[in-house]
Amino acid sequence: MKGQFVLDKLLDVKEPEADQRIDSVMYEQPREGLFRVLQNPMIWEVSRIGLDLVFGLYRRRSNVMQNWGLLENNPSIVDVGCGIGQYSDVTRGSYLGIDLNRDFINYASKRRRKNPNASFVCDNAASLVDDGSRFDIVLMVDVLHHLSEDAGTGLLELASDLSESYIVSFEPVKDQSNPVGQWIIDHDRGRYIYSLDELHTMFEQSPLTIVESIPLQLGFINSRAILAKPK
Ligand SMILES: C[S@@+](CC[C@H](N)C(=O)[O-])C[C@H]1O[C@@H](n2cnc3c(N)ncnc32)[C@H](O)[C@@H]1O
Repeated sequence: MKGQFVLDKLLDVKEPEADQRIDSVMYEQPREGLFRVLQNPMIWEVSRIGLDLVFGLYRRRSNVMQNWGLLENNPSIVDVGCGIGQYSDVTRGSYLGIDLNRDFINYASKRRRKNPNASFVCDNAASLVDDGSRFDIVLMVDVLHHLSEDAGTGLLELASDLSESYIVSFEPVKDQSNPVGQWIIDHDRGRYIYSLDELHTMFEQSPLTIVESIPLQLGFINSRAILAKPK
């Protein structure tokens, strides 16, 4: 089964138990210490609000989707690796946030109430393929840099299966023009921050075609916004 194949590829483990599945993706990061506190959804939200206020972390990415015309007509959206669901309000259409982190999902379910059509589920995104679910837009924000190249390509393959129209990916890139941005990236929790070429190659090796790829400056950080569609 293709869905199961993608699931295995994403998780890199055979028939994992639920908790092991979460651990295999969420706690892959070699840098622990202070970063561990970010596993607390409330602390995560405070850090995100700060980053949004100062650098426009969420605002600017939502604007990119708006400028691409993706949010007209309230599309259905699946937010893969949704965290605490910061993008649940970008549409009034159906929004499904899916994440492996149960604490984030529980928190999102309680906190994100502006969109009455938003729901959240704690699971691997690969499970959606088996359900036969389809969405206008598959959104992935800051997810790929937590996945190996194989798992990342698997996720893009999965996104292609889930998408009726577009796939949107927002990612920081390895090469930064600003030393502060470079320091932040070098100390990010994500083990796999890709160069722009590597990101593009990952898309090219997947069943997706890049429609737009634009730089997006988020404070000190050079990031990339990629719009793709199934081939
Ligand atoms: C850095 S967080 C980004 C959260 C959110 N997108 C945001 O921008 O605030 C990456 C999230 O991806 C989730 N994740 C990684 N692989 C996943 C998968 N295969 N299925 C569902 N969630 C996944 C992790 O659990 C983690 O919460």
